[in-house]
Amino acid sequence: MTESDAPGSSTRSPDWFPEEDRGGGARGSGSRSAQRLAEYQRLREQCPVAWADDHGGFWTLTRHADVKEAARQPGTFASGAPFIMMPNFGDQIPISLNPPEHAAYRRLLNPYFSREAMDRLEPTIRGFVVEALEPLVSAGEGDVVSGFCQPLPARALAALLNLPDAAYIELIEQIAGFERMGWDPGKVGAVIAEVFGNHIGRVVAERRARPLDPGTDLLSGVMAAEVNGQPLSDDIVIQIGVQLIAAGHATTADALSGVMYRLATNPDIQMELRRYPEKIPTAVEEFLRIETPLPEIARDATQDVELHGRTIRAGDRVALNYGAANRDPEAFEHPSACIIDRTPNDHLAFGSGIHKCLGAPLARLELRLALEEVLSRTSEISLAGPGVQTTGLILTGFTSLPLRFKTP
Ligand code: HEM
Repeated sequence: MTESDAPGSSTRSPDWFPEEDRGGGARGSGSRSAQRLAEYQRLREQCPVAWADDHGGFWTLTRHADVKEAARQPGTFASGAPFIMMPNFGDQIPISLNPPEHAAYRRLLNPYFSREAMDRLEPTIRGFVVEALEPLVSAGEGDVVSGFCQPLPARALAALLNLPDAAYIELIEQIAGFERMGWDPGKVGAVIAEVFGNHIGRVVAERRARPLDPGTDLLSGVMAAEVNGQPLSDDIVIQIGVQLIAAGHATTADALSGVMYRLATNPDIQMELRRYPEKIPTAVEEFLRIETPLPEIARDATQDVELHGRTIRAGDRVALNYGAANRDPEAFEHPSACIIDRTPNDHLAFGSGIHKCLGAPLARLELRLALEEVLSRTSEISLAGPGVQTTGLILTGFTSLPLRFKTP
């Protein structure tokens, strides 16, 4: 694998991407780079444990069974710095933790993403969806990335953390900025430490002075909790808040832009979901599989591992290629087709094992509500011009996507 083939190295118009598998019924075309998909296929078939010299050298696993197994073996494939192409910029809780520390933090955080917590958030998030969509749909045309895909997850995170809505949107623009800057390590470190750290730091100080209900307010709950019999320092609480923002915004924005592109280029999928909105949750899973907005995450081998005739040595870096795994024909029939009623769908877009995405219930909620509202308010969604598909260093999505809307 060369650097240019690695996830996240180009910005292109989606028109550049040849369509894959445009079938009848509820199938669709792809928005991922044909080159990258071909490379995924080559690696899965011919070199399932591939070595690359870039970024200090690392292995890549591409088969679904191997990636899933490695994700579920945190004792052998340990978490630390989550991205191959970026240096570690400090502890990130919980993503850079390992057993046994990791479990205590997940136990603490999981209840804020429970079914009840999502049910409480649903009306607020539906309101955000409608507020963003109404002007776009009534104008008949607009860039869905700046008007919808970016602001929605920002406001959803603000609601999750009980932060002031308006102030938070500004903060999120900073994240979008440094992601689009190309994740320059120096700039990212500075933005994270100064902007998010300071912002969340101010909120944490406010909560110390006036705690909210720890049962429903995540930051108050974390501040009231103990891990290993010790209360958490403000620094740890801030790290948790920063991690939620960093992990929850661009991932969801990129996922949503991928879903909007797929809808716009697949009238049959639109029709099917308008007619049978009850299929939307299953369709969301298939969109997540085929888009895989976070295609690669790193681990560090803690011991020598023999796999498919290669030896991964203790201390080697290993990329779990969720993007390639999600296109593995051994795990998914017609893997490049978007089959919106695919069941079962054992995709790895949220990972697997102990680090499986904490925010998945919130991301699923946002995507479902977005689809419900955009489809019920329109009779036709189509491309209004060439979009720009950006793959920053670690994510895949669109930086702009002009769409046209017709109303019934
Ligand atoms: C469609 C949107 C999203 C995608 C595709 C996504 C993807 C992922 C993936 C693949 C992982 C696993 C990382 C690993 O294997 O080490 C992960 C972990 C994580 N995600 Fe997400 N994510 C999304 C949305 C969110 C949201 C909305 C939040 C927060 C509100 C969030 C917070 C986290 C956290 C905290 C972790 C680390 C969990 C742990 O280490 O226990 N994510 N995400």
